[in-house]
Amino acid sequence: MPPEQKPRVLSGIQPSADSFHFGNYFGALRQWPPMQDDFDTFYMLADMHAITVEYDPAALRERTYVSAAQLIAAGVDPERSALFVQSHVPEHAQLAWVLNGITGMGEAGRMTQFKDKSSKNGADSVSVGLFTYPILMAADVLLYRADQVPVGEDQRQHLELTRDLAQRFNHRFGETFLVPEAFIVKETAKIYDLQDPTAKMSKSASSPNGLIELLDDPKKAAKKIRSAVTDSGDEVRFDEKEKAGVSNLLTIYSALTGRTVADIEREYVGQQYGAFKVALSELVADFVGPFGERTRALLDDRAELDRILKAGAEQARSVASQTLDLVYDRSGFVRQAL
Ligand code: TRP
Repeated sequence: MPPEQKPRVLSGIQPSADSFHFGNYFGALRQWPPMQDDFDTFYMLADMHAITVEYDPAALRERTYVSAAQLIAAGVDPERSALFVQSHVPEHAQLAWVLNGITGMGEAGRMTQFKDKSSKNGADSVSVGLFTYPILMAADVLLYRADQVPVGEDQRQHLELTRDLAQRFNHRFGETFLVPEAFIVKETAKIYDLQDPTAKMSKSASSPNGLIELLDDPKKAAKKIRSAVTDSGDEVRFDEKEKAGVSNLLTIYSALTGRTVADIEREYVGQQYGAFKVALSELVADFVGPFGERTRALLDDRAELDRILKAGAEQARSVASQTLDLVYDRSGFVRQAL
C-alpha cells in the first residue's frame, strides 16, 4: 500500500535520560519498529515535554541525539518512518495553545500522573508546563490525525483526554480531528526493578543496579542480573505475589527470547536460581552489547543524524501544518493575507 493509504501511527518518547532502559524498551519502544510494516509511522522525540521538569540544557541536547540513535538502533528506519524532534515542528506548541482553551482546569487536574508528581514534592515544586503536559501530548497526536497511538499503560489516561478534546473540538467547531485509539499491546512486558521487584523499572529507581539500561556495558548488565533480588526459595516459577523477583526475571527472559514463560519454567525445572540467572545474564549481555555498538556508531556521525531528523521534521510538518491550518480557520482566527 502507498503510505498515504495506510492507517497512521504516532508515538513519542521523552529524551530525558542518558539511556533508555528495559522498562521503556519492553514496555513500549519494542512495538515501534514492527508497526512500520502496516502503518504510516511518525515517531517523535518529545523534547518539549522534557522541559516541564527541571533539566540541564546541554544534557537535553545530548540526550536528544542519544535517544534518536537508540531508536534507530532499535529498528526505527528513517526511510520508512518520520523520525523527528518535537521542537522542530512549531505546530505542536501552536495546537496545544488552542486545546488549552477547551480543556477544563478540573479535567486537567484529574490526570493521575500529574497528581502523583505534584503530591510527591508539593504543588509549588511543579511547573504549569507539567500541568498542561497532557494537552501538549493531545496536540502531538491530533496534528497527525493518527489512527493509533502505541503507548505504555501509564499513558492511557492521557490518550483518553486526547480523545475527549478531539470530540469536543469537533462538536463545537466542526469535524476537524480524527479520534485516535490507544494501542496498548497486552503482551508488552511490564518490567520491574531488579532490586525492588514490586516497583516498576524506572530511572528514578533508588539503586542504579535496579535497572538495565540499553547502553549499559554488557558485563555490568550481566552482573546486575546475577545480583537481582530473588526470594529464599529455589524454584524457577512465575508467581508475581510470592516470587516477584524471579517472575520479573522470567518476564525479561521471555521478552528477550520470544519464548513463553511456561516453556522457560520447564527448562529450569530442578535447577536453582544460579543457573537461571547466569543464562539470563548472558542473554542480556548479548542484547545490550550489539545494541550499544550500533548506537555509538550512529552517534559518531552527527551530521547524518541531523540530516535524518531534518527530513523527519519536514515530513512531519507537511502533515502538521495542514491540520493546524484547518484548526486556526475553525477557531475563527483571521487568515493572513497572502
Ligand atoms: N508522555 C509520553 C511518555 O512520557 C511521551 C509522549 C509525548 C507521547 N507525546 C506523545 C506518547 C504522543 C505518545 C503520543 O511516555
